[in-house]
Amino acid sequence: EVVILPGSPDEAKRAAGKLAADLIERVVRAKPDAVLGLATGSTPLPVWHSLATRPLDWSRVRGFALDEYIGLPDGHPESYRAVITREVVDTLGLTPSLVHVPGDDGGEIQTAGDRYEAAIAAAGGVDIQVLGIGRTGHIGFNEPGSSFASRTRVKTLTEATRRDNARFFDSILEVPRHCLTQGLGTILDARRLVLLAFGEAKADAVAGAVEGPVSASLPASAIQLHPEVTVILDEAAASKLR
Ligand code: F6R
Repeated sequence: EVVILPGSPDEAKRAAGKLAADLIERVVRAKPDAVLGLATGSTPLPVWHSLATRPLDWSRVRGFALDEYIGLPDGHPESYRAVITREVVDTLGLTPSLVHVPGDDGGEIQTAGDRYEAAIAAAGGVDIQVLGIGRTGHIGFNEPGSSFASRTRVKTLTEATRRDNARFFDSILEVPRHCLTQGLGTILDARRLVLLAFGEAKADAVAGAVEGPVSASLPASAIQLHPEVTVILDEAAASKLR
């Protein structure tokens, strides 16, 4: 299902956040210890803000982040651990020990992916996964060429993605070159996907994801293989859909 929200960019973002929050609220009401898949970046912020206004019991809800940079100093404010804590855990009042980020268990990086997969499986899988999309067509940090069967692993960020994310750092030199990310196979295992995108810069990636060939050259096109996907867009992000 594709939902296109009219109005000014700010109005559309607010409405999109509300819609995605409605989907998440339904899941949490039906299952108080639901497992949420968490995206970072700018796109999901309206979702967390809308959820924060709702009288829901978050104490048993569990979370797994999509990805994490490799190589930032511990406690760096732009590490996804810090971002998830600030923007999701603190905003909603989640129980910190129930929210996981790849590589945050203190073990070796090279085997962190396998441990993360095991932790997701032990939690019974992700009930609802929130996704943004990169201009390269990435979901998580699965850049073009990522296998649809991929699981959580170490990846190299493209220069385009490093440039896009430089806005969160003092300079592009500070943006890590590597990351841990859930694989496309991991993401497709979630019971439900909610992908949000705003702005014209995402329009080509969105068109490819929703209508293009299912192809590793546009990793987000993998969502076409999933039976329960909601894509929530503003008019600019939807502008290249036919
Ligand atoms: C973030 C993530 C990425 C972002 C994407 C869009 O955890 O996995 O796929 O969702 O890069 O980023 P924003 O929302 O900042 O445009």
